[in-house]
Amino acid sequence: MTGVINPNVRQNKAVQLDDGVYWVGALDPGLRTFDIILSTANGTTYNAYLIEGSEGFAVVDTVKEEYADVFFSKLESVTDYSKIKYIVLNHLEPDHTGALPELLKRAPHAQVCISQRAQTMLKALLKTGLEDLSYTAVKTGDTLSLGDITLSFLNTPFLHWPDTQCTYLIEREILFSGDVFGCHFCDPRLFNDKVGDFRFSFDYYYAHIMRPFKQWVLEALDLIIPLSLKMIAPAHGPILRDRPRRYVTHYRELSTSSLSGKLGDDEKSLIIFYMSSYGNTARMAEAIYAGIDDVEGVRVSLYDLQGGETDPFVDLIEEADALMFGSPTINGDAVKPVWDLLSSLVVVNLKGKLGAAFGSYGWSGEAVGMVEDRMRGLKMRVPTPGLRIKLIPTDEELEDCKLFGREIAGILVGKNQNRGKIIEMAEL
Ligand code: FEO
Repeated sequence: MTGVINPNVRQNKAVQLDDGVYWVGALDPGLRTFDIILSTANGTTYNAYLIEGSEGFAVVDTVKEEYADVFFSKLESVTDYSKIKYIVLNHLEPDHTGALPELLKRAPHAQVCISQRAQTMLKALLKTGLEDLSYTAVKTGDTLSLGDITLSFLNTPFLHWPDTQCTYLIEREILFSGDVFGCHFCDPRLFNDKVGDFRFSFDYYYAHIMRPFKQWVLEALDLIIPLSLKMIAPAHGPILRDRPRRYVTHYRELSTSSLSGKLGDDEKSLIIFYMSSYGNTARMAEAIYAGIDDVEGVRVSLYDLQGGETDPFVDLIEEADALMFGSPTINGDAVKPVWDLLSSLVVVNLKGKLGAAFGSYGWSGEAVGMVEDRMRGLKMRVPTPGLRIKLIPTDEELEDCKLFGREIAGILVGKNQNRGKIIEMAEL
């Protein structure tokens, strides 16, 4: 290791970030999976902070329970518990509140500061009522004084739980941002101008934690952008003291649709994904595609899942207004590439998008209904029953596919269009 590592990071002493501002967090270099779904190739850090004012201290967040001893040692290297005036909780997930119960025992006179939405969560977390707890629920613009310095709060819900908030130390121009601007990257050099290249971890974290809540990210950025920023101190990963504003700009870019700028003002995007074993579902897809293309105001795209990888499709899906999935039924199920794509969509917000399913089948034809159920589970609108055709579609059935496409496209642009006869051969 180089000489830029502050030995206090590993010696249970607080690391000073600025005048009266300390890192009292913990390193977890061995972590390889976070929250079950996130890979953490570099481990992570649980960043907690201690702020000193003329009238006392504030603790901002704690650490995962198993690292509580490290956290308390670092706290005690700067102050004793009687001087802690506030315990600010930007986010109540256990990786940031694991040491809270013990901290409350050691600093019983400290006032807990949480967001309005965090109150019920705090109650659940502590498994007690809040009657005996000294706490205040704050909202955007509320402030707390530590004498010569002031904490101001920004309500930033769903980043990434409903309770989340950011805390701004006005006089030092430091934003304690919780999970926002964080990443799972463990490097004892701590600061973004000293650690290794963490761009991948930063974007990966955004993609899995923040991306489903893009609209909330943009609302949070509206509060953050006007702030003077000397440093961003997130709850995970490097502390952003070198050009912190570029991370704000990057978040805005990541949260802003790129496709929408390429569509006309009133144009909607519809994407068809399909997989075909004998070419029958492919013929259906092409006919549906042609039907959709007849409808003004809809830009339709067609993808054969046999020729693609899932990850780039997820980006397309996020920005589409409507999605159609075509799958044959094999052994009573939709085919794996379709399920792979559908199961990878937990990182995007599909609520309210229009969905439809179709497919050829040989015997029982369950795939269409199963895909529809999955789309409903993802909170998509599935306004019309899917289209199933037994084995090879006839010319008449392909015409029905076109009508089906026109109907879905018509619903998408707010027109009522009849698709005519729907063939349900399974019921014959
Ligand atoms: Fe780092 Fe959402 O907890």
